[in-house]
Amino acid sequence: MLPSDAAATSQLSRRRFLEFLGRGTLAAVGLSALPLLEACQRVPLAAPKPPRLFDPLAPAIEDRLRLVEGLNYREVLRWEQPLREGLQVGMHNDYLAFFPLPGTADEGLLWVNHEYITPALLHRFGPAPKTRAQFDRERSEVGGSVVHVRKTAQGWQPVPGSERHQRVTATTPLPFAWDVPIVGARQAIGTLGNCAGGVTPWGTVLTCEENYDLFWGERQSDGSRRSSLYGWENFENLPPEHYGWVVEIDPATAQGKKLVALGRCAHECATVHPLPDGRCVVYTGDDKENEFIYKFVSDQPNDLSRGTLYVANTETGTWLPLVWADQPDLKARFKDQTEVLINLREAGRILGATPQHRPEDIEIDPRTGHVFVSCTMNKSKADYTGHILRIDELGDYTSPSFRVERFLSGGPDTGFACPDNIAFDPRGGFWFTSDIAGYDIGTANFAPFGNNGLFYVPTEGPQAGEVLQVASAPNDAEFTGPLFLDGGRTLLLSVQHPGEESKAPEALTSHWPDGGTSYPRSCVVAISGPLLDTLAAV
Ligand code: FEO
Ligand code: CA
Ligand code: CA
Repeated sequence: MLPSDAAATSQLSRRRFLEFLGRGTLAAVGLSALPLLEACQRVPLAAPKPPRLFDPLAPAIEDRLRLVEGLNYREVLRWEQPLREGLQVGMHNDYLAFFPLPGTADEGLLWVNHEYITPALLHRFGPAPKTRAQFDRERSEVGGSVVHVRKTAQGWQPVPGSERHQRVTATTPLPFAWDVPIVGARQAIGTLGNCAGGVTPWGTVLTCEENYDLFWGERQSDGSRRSSLYGWENFENLPPEHYGWVVEIDPATAQGKKLVALGRCAHECATVHPLPDGRCVVYTGDDKENEFIYKFVSDQPNDLSRGTLYVANTETGTWLPLVWADQPDLKARFKDQTEVLINLREAGRILGATPQHRPEDIEIDPRTGHVFVSCTMNKSKADYTGHILRIDELGDYTSPSFRVERFLSGGPDTGFACPDNIAFDPRGGFWFTSDIAGYDIGTANFAPFGNNGLFYVPTEGPQAGEVLQVASAPNDAEFTGPLFLDGGRTLLLSVQHPGEESKAPEALTSHWPDGGTSYPRSCVVAISGPLLDTLAAV
């Protein structure tokens, strides 16, 4: 077990990488990982080198979506795109999930998170102070979209005018899945800060309310309210405690509920693993400096409204149960389990959870079962480039103990900084995106990395263990929501917040995707091409 900071010391060698990945892929072709590397080292100089998969992109700051040779992209959706009468795509698309319609793989419902707003771009640098009309517009831009999509000659596209298109916004009523009211209410008004998420085995999406304090502020320890960046509390007085939850939505109806049992924090994601008996384990992280990693085990099959929530101590490799009834230190501070769940960070700190470097996405390797956690950076600890952890549960996924090691570290040697979303392709390849903040891109600590990227880490062959940049984002943007479709022949990707650092209409920092003097727009794109077929398709 490694303390999260002490783990900063070593970078895995490529040989160690293969050991670490624990993959059987090389054995499938009659080779173990280590003999392959050693054999490569013994190859005479005159022998032909094994072919390289591709030459990765060099970092650059260019206001376009760059791709390695062998890949191309098409736009699927864009901010403000009309879906049907009175309904349009929200701002800053993030997590993506696909639910095929029965009987077809070529048509389905695409869930799209809309994480936050950039008021200057939304209101075209319109009047300040904020007006009621602007507040109403902002509330319509976040939440999520259910988009009825179909594969056409132009690739995946929304079905024009379909009644299946739906929106969930910051005004959608969402009941709490809990038998005690939350600050006097049985339901919340709306969802916001919807960053990443997860999918349940029963066909619902989990959408995570990450930076809820941007919208409604936060309750402080003396009971007062810290004001928000967007100033929504100047228009309506909704309690901060109604936000910061994992929200479960049925994409068929756009109805949902807030899963109080998973606790309240800046949830980045909610990654679901079904157990043999139908119960589920859900991993989630709190994307704030020095906050924690969590695991939830449901009590019942097909239901996440009740269960046991744990917080990770990565120094001892222990999941600590956040159960008021069993923890005297929690009983001494809080009056019941509801208070524990509302004040999750404080409860975790009381139990001795290990502070992390901003946990972002969590994904489970479908072949090995290892749990990977992106920790994007932690400026408070002078960590500007982040790392990816690998958690191995000791036993099954309900185990109280685990082993944790550092899988990859950001930095000039590996060529990436600030890892965020992770995805495994259908062949098991490891992909991740980076999220250097727009205001940091190109500055001192981040100069080597250029704009944000999409990276592929081969798990076999001559480039195994290398971090290869596949795509580079337009100015200020990050890639989010990677989602493989068509058996790995298509990669849907959100291009989020291009140009968000723009300070004036005549000084837009990005004009992607339309170029010229146009306003920038977040979009969902579909990446495909012969290289993706080679790397990811089954
Ligand atoms: Fe919305 Fe932590 O990324
Ligand atoms: Ca993220
Ligand atoms: Ca991020």
